Amino acid sequence: MSIRTLDDLLAEGVSGRRVLVRADLNVPLDKQTGAITDDGRIRAVLPTLGALVEAGAKVVVCSHLGRPKGAPDPQFSLGPVAGRLGELLGAPVHFATDTVGDSARATVADLADGQVALLENLRFNAGETSKDEAERGAFADQLAAFGDAYVDDAFGAVHRKHASVFDVPARLPHVAGRLVLREVEVLSKLTGDPERPYVVVLGGSKVSDKLAVIEALLPTVDRLLIGGGMCFTFLKAQGLEVGTSLLEKDMVETCRNLLERSGGKIMLPVDVVVADAFAPDAAHDTVRVDGIPSHRLGLDVGPETVAGFSAALSQAKTIFWNGPMGVFEMPAFAAGTRGIAEAITKADAFSVVGGGDSAAAVRALGLDESSFGHISTGGGASLEYLEGKTLPGIAALEN
Ligand code: 3PG
Ligand code: MG
Repeated sequence: MSIRTLDDLLAEGVSGRRVLVRADLNVPLDKQTGAITDDGRIRAVLPTLGALVEAGAKVVVCSHLGRPKGAPDPQFSLGPVAGRLGELLGAPVHFATDTVGDSARATVADLADGQVALLENLRFNAGETSKDEAERGAFADQLAAFGDAYVDDAFGAVHRKHASVFDVPARLPHVAGRLVLREVEVLSKLTGDPERPYVVVLGGSKVSDKLAVIEALLPTVDRLLIGGGMCFTFLKAQGLEVGTSLLEKDMVETCRNLLERSGGKIMLPVDVVVADAFAPDAAHDTVRVDGIPSHRLGLDVGPETVAGFSAALSQAKTIFWNGPMGVFEMPAFAAGTRGIAEAITKADAFSVVGGGDSAAAVRALGLDESSFGHISTGGGASLEYLEGKTLPGIAALEN
């Protein structure tokens, strides 16, 4: 595959040129205060932005945040992100209060060489996510008018066939930014010939979200450890009662089938932490998986499970982890996720953490980021990459 990179663009010279950068600044916000709770995705795009600033480009950054419905919605404004980005860059970021309207046009026109602008949320415009090519194309035309060249550094969004990801690169000279390049380099090691044993840990709430990646990984991995909310559908498939835990009834048969075909590669929890309610202060206990009371719900994996999973991880040479083991945002249900994360850091293995949630968990639990091989900024994107799917944002760069 032939993808031009930021270095190719820099070699051409970008001083005085407008460079449109698609970033993934979709950061988690505190539900009450709206404050940014994890700025990892903002920091991840700094190498690309810094290089462009240094080279004297007029840098126009665009991103989505959350899932607004194609119209302005203040709770999803990128305004706070512009502030944080400016702090991290050490220079003010000129914020446009619309995406392609008067404010955006004026902000871009006023940029001096080496300055950075951020446009308001792409998804305030129906054209960004439209399934209709013409509607997406019309929005892409407006965006493309802000750049003389396009850089995709939004790894977390490369699996979306959206205007800013897929249609803009068809309209401008385009290159991959530093983050996209590094992510693809690392993930291609996992799909290529990973050093063995190759152990994958999956968590998170829904089996249905992970089904495709489980199917794709089963033939490749040596062990697949499953925790998080999704483990209860697997436990049910083994004939166990799961109380009021998360359960995808229509996936039980699928899970049973996966377990049958897995050749013993799938490891499930042997104990879980069950609570009276989904609340930080709910009464809770650890029980064996065959003893989950009918009125209680599982919110974390238990210590014996952590020990078993950790033993499997300690043998691994390659590890991929996506999805928390429990409700790590509540301290009472964080031990499983912490235990697994610590086991990964201790293993003498090349480890990749995939995903918004697991990456946020690593930082929220105060773990040392540098003790992981790579922390991906893409959740869905890294999973779809491992599934071997064609990612629209990468395909668009290849042309
Ligand atoms: C993510 O957080 O997964 C990416 O930013 C993509 O967002 P999306 O799932 O809303 O498209
Ligand atoms: Mg997502």
